[in-house]
Amino acid sequence: MTAGQRFARVVTDIVVRRPLLWRALRPLMRKQFDKLAPVWDARRSPEAFLTVGVGLDRLAQPPKRVLDLGTGTGSVARILAERYPSAEIVAVDLSPRMIEEARSRTAAPNVRFEVADAERLPFDDGAFDLATLANMIPFFDELARVVAPGGHVLFSFSLGPGTPIYVTPERLRDALGRRGFSEFAELSAGAGTALLARKR
Ligand SMILES: C[S@@+](CC[C@H](N)C(=O)[O-])C[C@H]1O[C@@H](n2cnc3c(N)ncnc32)[C@H](O)[C@@H]1O
Repeated sequence: MTAGQRFARVVTDIVVRRPLLWRALRPLMRKQFDKLAPVWDARRSPEAFLTVGVGLDRLAQPPKRVLDLGTGTGSVARILAERYPSAEIVAVDLSPRMIEEARSRTAAPNVRFEVADAERLPFDDGAFDLATLANMIPFFDELARVVAPGGHVLFSFSLGPGTPIYVTPERLRDALGRRGFSEFAELSAGAGTALLARKR
């Protein structure tokens, strides 16, 4: 791992355990991802989002309102837009440079990109019936707030446990289970892993 990737992993481990420390770490993360934005896609393997497709295949109904958290350059938002052309997709990222890159790469009319922090989202309670997080630090309270009852959350990690921003399935199940999620499915494809859960 590079120094930047090690930093991302340490921040993930800290924030998952102590979310209150995020605000002190946020400026450093934003700076790091602003810097990475122009080269982000060049570093991605074409297989990076296989598990996203595998997770979406498990949904019984197509979602109508989808939130992609930590969208980066918008790869998952574009997968969602193509798969669900009549859904409204909102994709957010902390890094303004990532959002600029995402907008410049996305023609789909049903995607809207916004700069926002997943720790405090500018959306109503239960505003989404699916939230996706690819290689992204989870903020469980806020996630549980914006997903509607009966809605789903899909976590994916492009390199499984080797992903710099990685949270174990055990920790995800525990944190989500305490916030009303169940029906967990652990998935994998290529090097990637994913976890799908449904809010009761
Ligand atoms: C490892 S990148 C993943 C980007 C994209 N999902 C992908 O897999 O290509 C993590 C992204 O999450 C963003 N991010 C980190 N913390 C965030 C937060 N609290 N709120 C919103 N975005 C965040 C970063 O700016 C970065 O673009």
